[in-house]
Parts: sequence; C-alpha cells; structure tokens
Amino acid sequence: MHARAVAVTTTALLGVALLAPLSHARADLGGDAAEPSVIAHRGASGYAPENTLAAVDKAAELGIRWVENDVQRTRDGELVVLHDDNLRRTTDVEEVFPDRAPWKVKDFTAAEIARLDAGSWFGSEYAGARVPTLKQYVDRVEHNHQKLLLELKNPQLYPGIERETLKVLANEGWLDRPHVAGRLIVQSFSADSIRTVHELKPAVKTGFLGTPSVADLPAYAKFTDQINPSYGSLTRGYVASVHAFTGPHGRRMEVSTWTVDDADTARRVAAYGVDGVISNRPDVVRDAVREMADSAVR
Ligand code: G3P
Ligand code: CA
Repeated sequence: MHARAVAVTTTALLGVALLAPLSHARADLGGDAAEPSVIAHRGASGYAPENTLAAVDKAAELGIRWVENDVQRTRDGELVVLHDDNLRRTTDVEEVFPDRAPWKVKDFTAAEIARLDAGSWFGSEYAGARVPTLKQYVDRVEHNHQKLLLELKNPQLYPGIERETLKVLANEGWLDRPHVAGRLIVQSFSADSIRTVHELKPAVKTGFLGTPSVADLPAYAKFTDQINPSYGSLTRGYVASVHAFTGPHGRRMEVSTWTVDDADTARRVAAYGVDGVISNRPDVVRDAVREMADSAVR
C-alpha cells in the first residue's frame, strides 16, 4: 500500500481523522470548488420522472450542472436510459404489451420502447415522456450545457456495452478534449466494466460504485478516478483513505456519495470532504452545502 495511504488508514482507525476544512480547494469533478459538486441522480428525479429528458431539464432549471443516468441495451442493440432491467416500474409496458412478461429491457426493440409512456407513473403532467435513447440523452445534456455521470447499469447483461457506449459518446462529440477533461465520468458497480472503459479509452474519467476495502484501493487506483459509495457506509476516514491515492490520470482520487436527499446528511458528507454528492433533490443538497461553505468563510 502507498505509504501515505497507510498513514491515513492508521489515522482513521485511531478515530482522529480531522474534519475536512471547507475552505480548501476540493476537486469539482473537473475544476476547483470549496464545496462538493452536486449531481442530479437519474436527473432531478425527486421532481420529474427519473432518467427522462424532463428530469435533465428539471436539473438545468434548478441550476444543477451534473446529471447521473443509467444505460442499458435493447434487443436490437440501441442504448437507452433506464434504471431497472425491466420496464414495469417506470413505464406503461404492462398495458401496451400485456403478453410480454417479464418485460425486460433486453427483450424489447428500441421502436417498441419508444412507444411507452415513461412519465405518467410519476405525474399526469409528465404523460407522454419517453425512455430516451443514450443519443437523445447526451444531446439534451449538451444542449443544456450540463455534465454527465453515466452509469453502465447491469453491464453483465449486455456484453460489449462499454465499447458501444463509447461509440455513441464519440459520435455525439462527447469524447473530445473539453468533454473528457471536465464534463464526463463513466461509472459502474462492475469493476470489470470500468476497467474495460479505461482500457478502451484511457482519457475517460471513471468511477467505481461501491466501498472497496482500503487494502484493495491500490488496485482500483490503476483504472478508476473515483470511488463512489452509498452514504450509509461512508466515514470520514474512508474518504481520507481514498483521497490519499492518485488515480489513473495522475490526480487525487475522488469520492462521490449517493443518494443524499436531506440537508443534514448533505452537511455530514460534505464535512467528510467528499467531492460529489448524488441526489434526487439536488437543490436541497446544493443549498445546504453552499450555506455551510459560506458560513465557513465568514
Ligand atoms: O450514482 C449512484 C447511484 O445511481 C447508484 O445506484 O441503483 O440508483 O443506480 P442506483
Ligand atoms: Ca445510477
């Protein structure tokens, strides 16, 4: 293990890790900021149907620059943005295709999925919202001048999805220097998938979803720039441990935690020194961490 990491881990174990000073220049997932970046989880999904273009727009309306999404693949090879591996919870698929149980994304064509209503389950004002293709999704994020935390969801179900995702991103202009330098991160719960993305396109920033042991962090540091744990498992010491490592792009590794929807938890994880907070209610988190940063410099 890196000597600095050993020291940090030891400090954490002793329970004397220091509160991260709010005034320090924390990585803004691509820039510098005194407060963590806020990432709209599945778009601003507390206010609009998750993973739709409406949720991207809602995040933009709230002034949130980063959006997170989930990418899966249809039967005919189109990449679409949806969280679950089946269409039941967030579309009217059971009504439109009653004989197609269990309604898996991978069993439907893109044209079939394009017929589904992905908004009415959330609210009648969103009736007619569609499951976006990845192309439609990144084009909207681009249009809104936002940034994208793209999750490869269930990649084990979709062999080759890493290369296909990178191809869509390249076609839509998302692999040029400005995008990879500060507007795109690809994350997954699958370490293999993230390693593959890193090998295929080393310039792309990556994140691993989970909480690997500190002993395993040196291995992760070879292919991932971020370690992104659930806030429930997060400690100040763990954040410091991750920060002690240098990622594949020669910068301090980062931590973005999920899914934080209340001000108290937002303040707690911000005090731990996280670089990003992923939230269904990103305005609540943004206001809480901003107020905290402001009061620290007063
Ligand atoms: O970005 C973190 C978060 O999206 C991971 O969990 O299930 O919401 O995709 P999930
Ligand atoms: Ca996700």
